[in-house]
Amino acid sequence: MSYQTPRGTYDILPEEVRKWQDLEQKLRDIASRYDYEEIRTPYFEDTGVFARKGDSSDMVNKEMYSFGDNGSFTLRPEGTAGVIRSFDQHKLYGSMEMPARFYYVGPMFRHERPQKGRQRQFTQFGVENIGLKDPQLDAETIALGIDIVRSMGIRSIKVCINTLGDDASRKAYNEALRAYFAPHIDELCGDCHRRLEQNPLRILDCKVDHELDLVKNAPRLADYLNEESRTYFDGVLKALDAMGIEYEIDDRLVRGLDYYTHTVFEVISTRPESGAQATIFGGGRYDHLVEYFGGPEMSGMGFAIGLERLLALAGEDGYTFPEKQPLDAYIITLGEVGAAPLAIASRLRQAGMRAVANFTKRSLKSQFKSADRAHAKHIIIVGEEELKNNTVNVKNTGTGVQETVALEQLLSKLQGEE
Ligand code: HAM
Repeated sequence: MSYQTPRGTYDILPEEVRKWQDLEQKLRDIASRYDYEEIRTPYFEDTGVFARKGDSSDMVNKEMYSFGDNGSFTLRPEGTAGVIRSFDQHKLYGSMEMPARFYYVGPMFRHERPQKGRQRQFTQFGVENIGLKDPQLDAETIALGIDIVRSMGIRSIKVCINTLGDDASRKAYNEALRAYFAPHIDELCGDCHRRLEQNPLRILDCKVDHELDLVKNAPRLADYLNEESRTYFDGVLKALDAMGIEYEIDDRLVRGLDYYTHTVFEVISTRPESGAQATIFGGGRYDHLVEYFGGPEMSGMGFAIGLERLLALAGEDGYTFPEKQPLDAYIITLGEVGAAPLAIASRLRQAGMRAVANFTKRSLKSQFKSADRAHAKHIIIVGEEELKNNTVNVKNTGTGVQETVALEQLLSKLQGEE
């Protein structure tokens, strides 16, 4: 019987895991520079946490892995809803300083057609800040994401930004879109029929119809923004200018999820080989989620980065990932030495060193080869004769010097050569 990873999933082998650990360290460092704290929510939630009333997104309608009686639970397709559910469940709005700042890292699950940069299990780093609606905070959130992308050596990026305006602006726009598309419904795909009913804005984001002239010539959201929404958006742009962050206003950017209000943004890779899945991170402001889950009226703002995409781009841009840490000691044996290598390795580890003993009794030459491959700083040769005198041979691989060392001096000798 042989098995492979399910479609859209992948193993991360040790060599790759090292890259992940390097990235995760950077994520945590940068998040902490902005005073965000980690939050961990379950990998599955009640389906209703994601499938909120009237949701028109593909993610909710087509891509969720639901299970249990009547699909009552769902593997999380994204992090935001779970964080807000948790914020409300624990009434954190009553105890935390506002804005409350959270970050999370972990797997998400979407039943999509797998392709380069698009998996069924993928990993997001995301941030959410809740309880302050301020254009400067929107800009600062974008800056955090850019810091992360830059920390991985990625330079070829473009910041696309738009506003969906407040409820009144979006309502006016949706009505205009409905009036515009209704006479042409036959030209739209089946999904867009549903979208026309539920949320016409979604038609602009349709993977099938977005190239149609009909869609390209649709009314522009910018023409339906009220004064308040315009002023808010200007504030975000000014704050980005103040930090020297360049951006492009893309008034067709509506994002694939339903909860956004006001600012939305995506940071994309401009490398030609990134292809269709060029979005490194995306996010925006949401005015109603906290209330939806039973909390007070509070606005939130966040984004999520696809870490697989980020790592792939870092590799292409020539970022150097750290090497595997060398061992402090690799112990090889000569003759009948019983459990001495085990005991020595154990003693070195107790002292905080990284040590491995070769138990194979293979030829000295072959054991030396293994030691070389392990990139050990010291090779310790435990020989039958030496052991009788309570000594071992120690080779410093950096200097090439080999010498006899009394067992009781071994630790201080190795520590002295750190
Ligand atoms: P999203 O745009 O659905 O937003 O996903 C954010 C990022 O996750 C994408 O830009 C992409 O890098 C990565 N991603 C999404 N789907 C896949 C996939 N199938 N395979 C690989 N990577 C993928 C959200 O999830 C929102 N929760 C972001 C947010 C946070 N908005 C406000 N707060």
